[in-house]
Amino acid sequence: MTTRVPPVLVTGATGRVGRVVVDLLVDTGVPVRALTHRSEAAATLPANVEVVTGDLTVPESLDAGLHGVDAVFLVWTAPPTTAPAVVERLATHTRRVVFLSSPHQTPHPFFQQPNPMAVLHADIERLVAAAGLESTIIRPGMFASNALLWWATAIRADGVVRWPYGAAETAPVDDRDVAAVAARTLSEAGHAGGDYVLTGPESLSQAEQVSIIGDVLGRRVEFEELSPDEFRSETEGSWPRPVVDMLLDAWGATMGTPAYVTSAVSDILGSARSFRQWAADHARAFTGP
Ligand SMILES: NC(=O)c1ccc[n+]([C@@H]2O[C@H](COP(=O)([O-])OP(=O)(O)OC[C@H]3O[C@@H](n4cnc5c(N)ncnc54)[C@H](OP(=O)(O)O)[C@@H]3O)[C@@H](O)[C@H]2O)c1
Repeated sequence: MTTRVPPVLVTGATGRVGRVVVDLLVDTGVPVRALTHRSEAAATLPANVEVVTGDLTVPESLDAGLHGVDAVFLVWTAPPTTAPAVVERLATHTRRVVFLSSPHQTPHPFFQQPNPMAVLHADIERLVAAAGLESTIIRPGMFASNALLWWATAIRADGVVRWPYGAAETAPVDDRDVAAVAARTLSEAGHAGGDYVLTGPESLSQAEQVSIIGDVLGRRVEFEELSPDEFRSETEGSWPRPVVDMLLDAWGATMGTPAYVTSAVSDILGSARSFRQWAADHARAFTGP
């Protein structure tokens, strides 16, 4: 007689981290149930994955997806209001949660600025603990893939990145490494109570990151320094103002201090991808149409 292994429910399964978690769990033979909230997003998931729909803003919509799961990978990208009801539901159906949070407890100026997302992450962690769930908290710093969102259009257009705080240092972590740590903690015993601050392996100024992308592309990419006010004007109408202010506060506060770097990714996975490696693997996104 074969016993059916209960699946892991992956939320944010079509997102930057969750999508890779799905693939890595499938590769290790863990049954995956992937949650999507837009039905058209399901088409991007592998055929051998069970897809369920559910919306974090409608807690009861999660019940079918949660039924019989072994663990949940929780990515919260919704407003905070429904978090208590959702965590209560998680606790009804499962005993183990791996939560994608942020390093809001890390005593480094970059992570200690006013940040509504950090407040939300801290609240969810408290809810998870109060519900008696076994948890692993994953705290990535800056995702390397932010470089795509921030700089790819300018690099493709005229090769001039107009940006503030060129000297501000961060340690971009490859999203694939974040996903690999999540998949490892979901599929391997021994990570209950784990709390991992994940960064890339080196501290690099934003101007250095842009220059590495240029090196990898084999072309000159210039960094043109903007004042914070110029950046606010340039992003007016296209970026939410609270996000712009949050980033400006964090970059401004970290000026003159190297980024916080941990060895957690290589401790858990054996190695950590560099920003240069990330850029090389995504070069086409900076040159394509
Ligand atoms: N960017 C950074 O540098 C950074 C650093 C540290 C932590 N983080 C955290 O990482 C998380 C984001 O992860 P990500 O970048 O992998 O996500 P992402 O690429 O932005 O993808 C968002 C995911 O959330 C799903 N989603 C959106 N609204 C939903 C809803 N109402 N109900 C259910 N699912 C919903 C989307 O599903 P559909 O496709 O079905 O809509 C999608 O899978 C955030 O919590 C962020 O604070 C980010």
